Amino acid sequence: MKNFATVNADETIRIGREFGRTLPDGAIVVVSGPLGAGKTVFTRGIAEACGVTDEVTSPTYTLVHEYLGKRRFYHIDLYRVADERDFDNLALDDIIFSDAVTVIEWGEHASPDVRDAAYTVTIEVLENGARSITLQSAP
Ligand SMILES: Nc1ncnc2c1ncn2[C@@H]1O[C@H](COP(=O)(O)OP(=O)(O)OP(=O)(O)O)[C@@H](O)[C@H]1O
Ligand SMILES: [Mg+2]
Repeated sequence: MKNFATVNADETIRIGREFGRTLPDGAIVVVSGPLGAGKTVFTRGIAEACGVTDEVTSPTYTLVHEYLGKRRFYHIDLYRVADERDFDNLALDDIIFSDAVTVIEWGEHASPDVRDAAYTVTIEVLENGARSITLQSAP
């Protein structure tokens, strides 16, 4: 487990980029934290590490965005997915359990087999507005 304190979006991206460089093909990353914590910003850093040059925007309504960089990269946002049954109905397993790197915001709503296989990133908003970012490896 690693922990970083970051005070602006550029630092969040940088931590995301460095973390992204360590990820193997097929990595699943669940990014948790309250609304507006910086989950999408962190995801941009991982995308950069995968060689994605397109702008990474939040897939809040479309659920999944696919990018092709040096590596294939998926960005999923489960904010609007109510629970695990909802999640199962989306049939995202072929995407998530692929050899692409997949980042899932609000991954709390994913199934246990997804959560159990994932790296986790937890972003906390501190009283002074800075962010504490905790990284945990996949098992
Ligand atoms: N380390 C940081 N310190 C201060 N502000 C930050 C930091 N990292 C990111 N931010 C700011 O947090 C804001 C929200 O970022 P972002 O959209 O990534 O949040 P989110 O967690 O994805 O939100 P949502 O829950 O809506 O998906 C942005 O304005 C960004 O500049
Ligand atoms: Mg977001």
